[in-house]
Amino acid sequence: MIKKRIGLVADILMYAILVTQMLYVFVGNNVHEILGMAFFACMIVHVVIKGWWFKTQFRKGKAASRYFFDAVTLLLLLSIILLMVSSMGVSRFLFPGIRFLGSSDFHRFLATAVLTLGVLHGGMHGYFKAKKKRSAVILIALGCVAAASLGLFLVPYLNRHLRAVEISYAEKVTGERVDWNGKKPMVVYFTRVGNTDFEPDVDAVSGASLLIADGEMIGNDQLLAGMAGDILGVEPVAITLTGKKYPSSYNATVSVAGEELRAQARPAVEPIDVSDADAVILIYPLWWGSIPMPVATFLEAGDFDGKTIYLIATQGSSGYGNTVSEIEALCPGAKVVPGTSIYCEDIPDAREELLALIKGWNKQ
Ligand SMILES: Cc1cc2nc3c(=O)[nH]c(=O)nc-3n(C[C@H](O)[C@H](O)[C@H](O)COP(=O)(O)O)c2cc1C
Repeated sequence: MIKKRIGLVADILMYAILVTQMLYVFVGNNVHEILGMAFFACMIVHVVIKGWWFKTQFRKGKAASRYFFDAVTLLLLLSIILLMVSSMGVSRFLFPGIRFLGSSDFHRFLATAVLTLGVLHGGMHGYFKAKKKRSAVILIALGCVAAASLGLFLVPYLNRHLRAVEISYAEKVTGERVDWNGKKPMVVYFTRVGNTDFEPDVDAVSGASLLIADGEMIGNDQLLAGMAGDILGVEPVAITLTGKKYPSSYNATVSVAGEELRAQARPAVEPIDVSDADAVILIYPLWWGSIPMPVATFLEAGDFDGKTIYLIATQGSSGYGNTVSEIEALCPGAKVVPGTSIYCEDIPDAREELLALIKGWNKQ
């Protein structure tokens, strides 16, 4: 009886912790990592108490629903193990020494898988006991859709809209340099800051993809450009609108950017002379899975024939989206080399990744 109660408490805690973990934006990194340990402790309690389940695997003549349950449970177990390993890979607080993943994409994907499979697993326990099987199946399906949507849509949305991170610019940007063989590449970037009419209370409306460096607002891509510039010893160049800037509100910017993309607009930007460069490191955010249209203006205006364009994208979940093929189409004579696509939350700590990337390019 007591075993059953402990098991139930551990199970409830696991679901509660997992949902809290996904609301990372509210709890912050350190609490997230500590809660992660608590999750795995509960998981061990669960496995010890339900250890008999492993023995049932070799039983013959099980109903189809049992086979399905067992497959889901095995998959869940595997996902949790991978989640645990990946959590160390992205840890900054508890295991900073063994941080081996440059991006938290895999970890976040696994967390969604664990939550969805967890709902399916828990729901199936209910299914076996339920009298109305059809209703149980509908409830389980709805639960799974809600869990997957939380991880795939709500979490990235919250991260984009509510995140405001304070950093020290020099601490994040300066460090080891790369002695580039030959003419150094230009570092060109686009970011919202400098291209947006921000209101004074901007944090309230769009903490979103904004960073505060030493009290000054700074764009994600601007920070990355600062890092790349420091690594190479070059001054980054911003793609800057000459006309109307984007609105302060994040949502309004998203709408304007969507309209621009549909219209394939080419907002006017200050000219950037690339004629003297052999290579350009282009740092840009994903907007609607594409390059922001001012980046298209920059690419169309320059002559990139025979040059190499190294890509560093930033995003809130979409990898490179369509941007690689878009850039290739805009600069058919250039060699386009995708480098990395960094999740917005990982940007302040991306210097090591950029350093490794630039060292790799330098060897080619
Ligand atoms: C207008 C707009 C559209 C966006 N669209 C996407 C998108 O389609 N996929 C994605 O993963 N992130 C998207 N994002 C998130 C940004 O790519 C991400 O927050 C980026 O790091 C912002 O960089 P910045 O601070 O340099 O402007 C969008 C952001 C904005 C402002």
